[in-house]
Amino acid sequence: MTDSANSVRAARTPLNPPVRLLMGPGPSNPDPRVLAAMGANPVGHLDPYFVQLMDETMDALRQVYRTRNHHTLPISGTGSAGLEAIMLNLLEPGDSAVVCVNGYFGQRLAELARRSGADVRTIEAAPGEVVDPDALDRMLKERPAKVVAFVHAETTTGAMQPVQDVVAVARRCDALVVMDCVTSLGGVQIEVDEWGIDAAGSCTQKCIGAPPGMGPITVGPRAMAAVRGRKSKPGTWYLDLALLFQYWGETGATRKRAFHHTAPVANIYGVHEALRLILDEGLEVRWARHEAAHLALVLGLDGLGLSLFTPAANRCPTINVVRVPDGVDEARVRSRLLDMGVEMGGGLGALAGKVWRVGVMGTNARVPTVEHFVGALDEALRAEARVHSGTTSSARDTTSR
Ligand SMILES: Cc1ncc(COP(=O)(O)O)c(C=O)c1O
Repeated sequence: MTDSANSVRAARTPLNPPVRLLMGPGPSNPDPRVLAAMGANPVGHLDPYFVQLMDETMDALRQVYRTRNHHTLPISGTGSAGLEAIMLNLLEPGDSAVVCVNGYFGQRLAELARRSGADVRTIEAAPGEVVDPDALDRMLKERPAKVVAFVHAETTTGAMQPVQDVVAVARRCDALVVMDCVTSLGGVQIEVDEWGIDAAGSCTQKCIGAPPGMGPITVGPRAMAAVRGRKSKPGTWYLDLALLFQYWGETGATRKRAFHHTAPVANIYGVHEALRLILDEGLEVRWARHEAAHLALVLGLDGLGLSLFTPAANRCPTINVVRVPDGVDEARVRSRLLDMGVEMGGGLGALAGKVWRVGVMGTNARVPTVEHFVGALDEALRAEARVHSGTTSSARDTTSR
């Protein structure tokens, strides 16, 4: 049979994805009510019903971000699109930015900033560590910057950057503060207004509890003033905030909606439902639930003789980076786990092959779920050890102990 005949046949196969417990660095499993909402009747992207839903979604997002910023919306696109929107709207050629880098996603943030044509300096910290605010202070004293950006929870190393010191230093030189909170929003405390964050971007597929597809952002008044004061239009049409808020609704009397792009209606249904569930649960309760599940995971891993890579003082509860013991084939353990219906992540960049990454996010951030995960990991490690010691012949034998 030819290749094209094969692909025609594949497209006719009914969709039947396996059921997985998603315990990697994201996505996590959405709440079934979110998935049901996404299958609701589509309406037009300018339908009065949908416009009301947009307003409600913006309002709920403001509550989750703990901000009064009008300019708060889910960007069409994943978390990266939201962060790119922030960088390309705030920065332009001739501007200067400093990006804190303590892992892969800090590097990514710096690259997004560079795409604006701005002059970008980075301040680095070792994997697992956080950036030293005094070093940032020294760098800004040498030369101020328009934007200081950092990653709140670095998903590659599990480190959580303390926010307030960075903001205090950045504000001293009048810089705008940008935060990537892709791995933390909805799972750990975030206080955009109280902390003085000027712009923040996250995703929907981790602690928010919806599938991937949207990049919720919030942009404060100082940052919007910088956007409005640009010398040139941003080098992006799709992510141009001025155009996007003509559709999502500007502040003031004119609440007219101008078509910009055809909004992904089903995704916005999903985000709306996920945010409703978060607010029903209560943010403080949700943060505490993530913390409790993280502590249960650390305890369970300890019982298996496994330790976390990230120093205890820097750990983010939602992303747990686990050392792979010497002599263990990390990819084979992950593959065994997947055979049991459980996904966890491998290491990225410098940590590839050396760590596993376990997400405790959204609906999965529950002690019984974590205990199920630890049990499955135990079984996978034991099966792997049996192969190593020659008591079974197959690397894929997952017989329980
Ligand atoms: C800290 C961080 N920033 C940015 C991103 C990119 O988000 P997305 O994959 O939703 O585009 C990720 C993805 O995992 C992330 O962990």
